[in-house]
Amino acid sequence: MPSPCSRREKFRTGYEGWSMARTVNIDFWKARWSEQRIGFHLPDVNPLLTTFASRWLGLKELDSPAALHDRRVLVPLCGKTLDMIWLAERGARVVGVEFVEHAAAAFFQEAAIGVSVERRERAAVYRSNQQGLNVEIWVSDFLSLTADEVGVFDAVYDRAALIALEPRLRAAYADRVVQLSHPGTQLLLVTVEHDGGSGPPFSISESDTRAVWSGKFAVDLVSDEDLLGPEATYRDRAYHVYRERAWIGKRA
Ligand SMILES: C[S@@+](CC[C@H](N)C(=O)[O-])C[C@H]1O[C@@H](n2cnc3c(N)ncnc32)[C@H](O)[C@@H]1O
Repeated sequence: MPSPCSRREKFRTGYEGWSMARTVNIDFWKARWSEQRIGFHLPDVNPLLTTFASRWLGLKELDSPAALHDRRVLVPLCGKTLDMIWLAERGARVVGVEFVEHAAAAFFQEAAIGVSVERRERAAVYRSNQQGLNVEIWVSDFLSLTADEVGVFDAVYDRAALIALEPRLRAAYADRVVQLSHPGTQLLLVTVEHDGGSGPPFSISESDTRAVWSGKFAVDLVSDEDLLGPEATYRDRAYHVYRERAWIGKRA
């Protein structure tokens, strides 16, 4: 299991290159993708996922292709994260949601798995079940996607999704996750708190994170790492606080 320290050595923090912006809308993200300013994208599977997946999903054994057999896992604001491959390799039926089509296409192209594209009125659905990997990416605004369209999910994996949204959208985001889940749905959430002004990533405190999910998911803090350790990469940007937290939740 990689330690947080080895993660920093290998990937630094994964939040480099995020910039300050006043309006974080689809045009902002399209520009980020077309200019390849995607410092949030990690070149490997996120160690917080591999560290906490077993606890998140309540399973001892995760290293077999059937470990997550038929579990539906939602990855909101998915980008082209390789974490979706890791989950699909364990048998999960993964559904990512991403509104920049370029990111969805890049995911399948870079993973070298065949894909079909279904064009619907409100979404384009990229779909593959090649090489035993069952992955879909819905090119759509997550905040307006309905359970009638995508169904409900057994588990939700949020790394850099809640914190990619402006704070005013947090309640709508959590409501949407509730609408796409069922009682018992398991949540793995990664947040950051920093003192570097606006975002993305938008800083969220421990208490605000609890407030966002209050009455929706019971969340436990499972990891709280100071990213301004000895190998800090943010000092030149004058951050004095930069913490990355992992949370595990269960829908009430
Ligand atoms: C910070 S990135 C994180 C991507 C991914 N979770 C990861 O860990 O690499 C946020 C992504 O969400 C997408 N996004 C932002 N708002 C969205 C929305 N309302 N609906 C769907 N995708 C959205 C952006 O285009 C961007 O690719």
